[in-house]
Amino acid sequence: MSVTAPSNATSTATITLDATGQSTKLPLLTGTLGPAVADIRKLPAELGIFTYDPAYGGTAACDSKITYIDGDEGVLLHRGYPIDQLAERATFPEVAYLLLNGELPNQAEHAAFTTELNNHTMLHEQLRHFYNGFNRNAHPMAVICGVVGALSAFYHDSLDINDRGHRELSAMRLIAKMPTIAAWTYKYTHGFPFTYPRNDLNYAENFLHMMFAMPSAPYQVSPVLSRAMDRILILHADHEQNASTSTVRLAGSTGANPFACIAAGIASLWGPAHGGANEAVLKMLGTIGSKDHIADFIAKVKDRSSGVKLMGFGHRVYKNFDPRAKIMQATCHEVLGELGIKHDPLLELAVELERIAIEDEYFVSRKLYPNVDFYSGIILKAMGIPTSMFTVLFAVARTAGWISQWKEMIEEPGQRIGRPRQIYTGAGPRDLVSMAERA
Ligand code: ACO
Repeated sequence: MSVTAPSNATSTATITLDATGQSTKLPLLTGTLGPAVADIRKLPAELGIFTYDPAYGGTAACDSKITYIDGDEGVLLHRGYPIDQLAERATFPEVAYLLLNGELPNQAEHAAFTTELNNHTMLHEQLRHFYNGFNRNAHPMAVICGVVGALSAFYHDSLDINDRGHRELSAMRLIAKMPTIAAWTYKYTHGFPFTYPRNDLNYAENFLHMMFAMPSAPYQVSPVLSRAMDRILILHADHEQNASTSTVRLAGSTGANPFACIAAGIASLWGPAHGGANEAVLKMLGTIGSKDHIADFIAKVKDRSSGVKLMGFGHRVYKNFDPRAKIMQATCHEVLGELGIKHDPLLELAVELERIAIEDEYFVSRKLYPNVDFYSGIILKAMGIPTSMFTVLFAVARTAGWISQWKEMIEEPGQRIGRPRQIYTGAGPRDLVSMAERA
C-alpha cells in the first residue's frame, strides 16, 4: 500500500491499495484537527473487499464538530474550547448549550435556556408510579435504563425525529429530567420519599437537593459541593465517539426515537470498561485495603493470567494524562477540604497507587495513565453519594453529549443506517438432515 500525504489541512490526497492484483485510489480526508483518514467507502464496490477493525481502533465512523481529542498530547476540546477552561469558567448548562448549539450562550440565550430546562425538570406523575415496579434492591443503572426508555411512552409530542422542534424538545426534556430520574432512583432504592425539583436552584444545586433533601428537615446545598458537582458534570459531558456515544449514534441511525437511543447509551455506559469504572475503582480500593497491599495488587495486575486490571487507568485514546483526571484530582482536594476531611484513607491510597503505577515499567511501556474515573469516585463518596450511583451520575452528565451527537447525526444530509460487516468464520453451506439422522 502506498500513501500520498496531503500537503495541507484542507487538501485531499490518495492512498493506492494493491490487493488481489487490483488497485484503487482512496481519497484521504482531513478535518480541522487530527490525523488524515482514508475514505474506504467505495472499496467493497470497487475491489470486493471490506476492511477489518473489530474494536474500531483505526476507524472514524462519522464527521463531527462537537469534541476533539488528541490522545498523545492529552488534549480535550469541546467545540474548540479546552476542557480546563470550561471546567474552571463555565457551568454545566453552558457546556450543554455549547455541545448542542455549537457556541457558548450569551446572557439572553443562557437565561432562555435555563428557563426552558426548568420548565422540563418534572416527570409525568404516571412515570413516578413506574418506579414501584422495580425491586428496591435493583442496581440504579437498571432503573434509569428502564425509566429513560419509558420516557418515549409518555412524551409522544416530541418523538418525530424529522421535526426540528421535536428534536429540540426531546433534547431539552432529556437534559432537564435526568437529574430528577437519577435522584428519584436513589430515593427509591433507599426507600426515601421522592423530592420534587426546585426551579430556584441551579442545575447542580437542584440535583443535590433532590438527592439529599428530606421532608423532615431543611437541606442547605453547600456552594463548594454544588460547584464540585457542576464540575464533575462538565468533565463527563461528552467524549467524542466512545462506546456509549457510538451506541446512541448506531441506535439513532435506524430512526429510533431519542429516548430509546439514550436508554441504549445508558446500557452501554454501564460496563466496567466504560462508565462503570468509577464504581469499580472504589471497589478496587476497598479490596486493596491499605498502602501495604499495593505492591501485591500491582503484581496481580501485571500477572496477565489473573485477569485483574488497575481500574481508572488506561484509555483507548489517551496515551498521556487524561486532562480530566488532573482537574478531578484538584476538585477532590477541594471537596475533602470543604467537608473538613483532613485524612481520607481512600484518597491517600489512590494517590500512592497512582504514584507507584505511573513509575512502573508495565504501565509506562503501555502508556497507561489515570483516566477521569480514577478520582471521581472518591469525590462522590465524600459527598455522600453511594457507589452504585456513580455511573448514574456519569449518565446524567453524558446525556448532554449523547443527545448533541444524536442531533448532529440526524441533521446530517444523507444520513444512513449504520451497518458494519463481518468476517464469517462459521460452517460452509450444508444440507439439513432429519433429527433421526443427526449424530
Ligand atoms: N490495567 C492493567 N493493564 C491494562 C489496563 C489496566 N487498567 N488497561 C490496559 N491495560 C493493558 C492491556 O492488557 C494491554 O496489554 P498488552 O499490550 O500486554 O496486551 C495494553 O495495556 C493495551 O490495552 P488495551 O486493552 O488494548 O486497551 P483498550 O484501548 O482496548 O482498553 C480500556 C481501554 C478499556 C479503558 C482499558 O484501559 C481498561 O480496561 N481500563 C480499566 C477500566 C477503566 O478505567 N475504564 C474507564 C475508561 S474511561 C471512561 O470510559 C470514562
